Amino acid sequence: MPNGRTIAGRFSLLGAVALCVLAVGCRQDPVVPSEPAFPIIPAHLATVPVPSDNALTPAKVELGRRLFYEKRLSSEGTVSCASCHRQDKAFSDAPNQVSRGVNNALGQRNAPSLINVAYRPHFFWDGRAATLEDQAMAAFLSSVEMDADTLAVAALLRSEQYRGAWQAAFADTTVTMRRAMMAIASFERTLVSADSRYDRYVLGDRTALSEQERRGMNLFFSARSMCGACHGGQDLTNDQFQNIGLFNHYFDRGRFNVTRNPRDEGLFKTPSLRNIALTSPYMATGDSDKGLLTTLEQVVQHYNEGGTPFANKDKRVRKLGLSDAEVADLVAFMKALTDSSTLTRAEWSAP
Ligand code: HEC
Ligand code: HEC
Repeated sequence: MPNGRTIAGRFSLLGAVALCVLAVGCRQDPVVPSEPAFPIIPAHLATVPVPSDNALTPAKVELGRRLFYEKRLSSEGTVSCASCHRQDKAFSDAPNQVSRGVNNALGQRNAPSLINVAYRPHFFWDGRAATLEDQAMAAFLSSVEMDADTLAVAALLRSEQYRGAWQAAFADTTVTMRRAMMAIASFERTLVSADSRYDRYVLGDRTALSEQERRGMNLFFSARSMCGACHGGQDLTNDQFQNIGLFNHYFDRGRFNVTRNPRDEGLFKTPSLRNIALTSPYMATGDSDKGLLTTLEQVVQHYNEGGTPFANKDKRVRKLGLSDAEVADLVAFMKALTDSSTLTRAEWSAP
């Protein structure tokens, strides 16, 4: 039977990252702590990192929330950030494999969840943006996402409708696109949630997980499955780039597009598994050589079979020999990572 001691032991076996689940403040990156009580961070999560030039204030977050839901930021007035990052889907675009932006333009990748995105050290599946501010600017300007007309947006932000909120957020009325993105990034930094049954278990409620889910958890964090080696830490990601053998040829070259290093061909950022049951289909492109990956069973079966042979495939992805019952245990554990309070929290909804 699993108990707290063996589980903690296994976490540490897999490296310090996993211990972030239990301890506060174990991030290595230099961080500037946000104002003491805002936003409210669950006690077992690290402090939200905030860049020194974009202090997190309630007024900026409120402006950011309005902008996150503002369709007039897009050239056609039809698409907002929330069109592809929907609260009822943990801020992902499930069940769409790829998203449609302005003019129905089709993107090439699956829109990730934004829950706890504040903790990520880089953004996009290939890590090409270093800050949430830069990431938002990229989406705002992208021809397949919002394709913003910046002059029209500037006029909107200077109008009566936004003047008060803007003044409250920035203490003057100078409108820049950079500031608009700073406000959106501030809102995103408040999308912090950690009240899944797994969190409750970590916080000491031994009844929060069923026996099957506990078996799945122990297998997940074991050297046998190696899931926890990449999906460890408070958000079940190591924030690194790996190849897990989804294709034998990668049309989307992933991290390679950023580094031009052949060893990065086909590598993608390990995604957080928080709320993973809500964000199907899975993976950067939502599919694999074997077709769409729409269920967690299919994902575990992918790992169980050791993936498709590919030069850069990570050695930890190899035939696992899991029984059907063990596959079901892993799936049950991942389903316990859902925090349904995120789906309806009023402070994250359209204003
Ligand atoms: C047309 C759909 C669409 C719109 C509109 C959109 N996004 Fe995204 N978003 C995506 C997709 C698809 C990705 C993954 C793209 C990639 O990795 O290349 C993504 C990635 C992200 C990420 C990176 C998350 C991570 O963990 O790496 C953030 C943050 C984000 N979007 C925020 C925003 C914000 C803020 C806006 C509005 C300014 C926005 N998005 C508008 C589809 C969209
Ligand atoms: C070598 C590191 C590594 C290991 C080991 C690993 N993963 Fe992953 N995982 C990743 C990466 C990287 C992705 C994204 C891959 C892509 O899109 O190309 C991913 C994607 C996923 C996804 C889809 C997430 C989403 O948002 O689309 C799930 C679910 C998942 N892994 C579960 C598991 C389970 C269960 C195990 C153990 C059986 C495991 N992973 C082992 C690195 C790893």
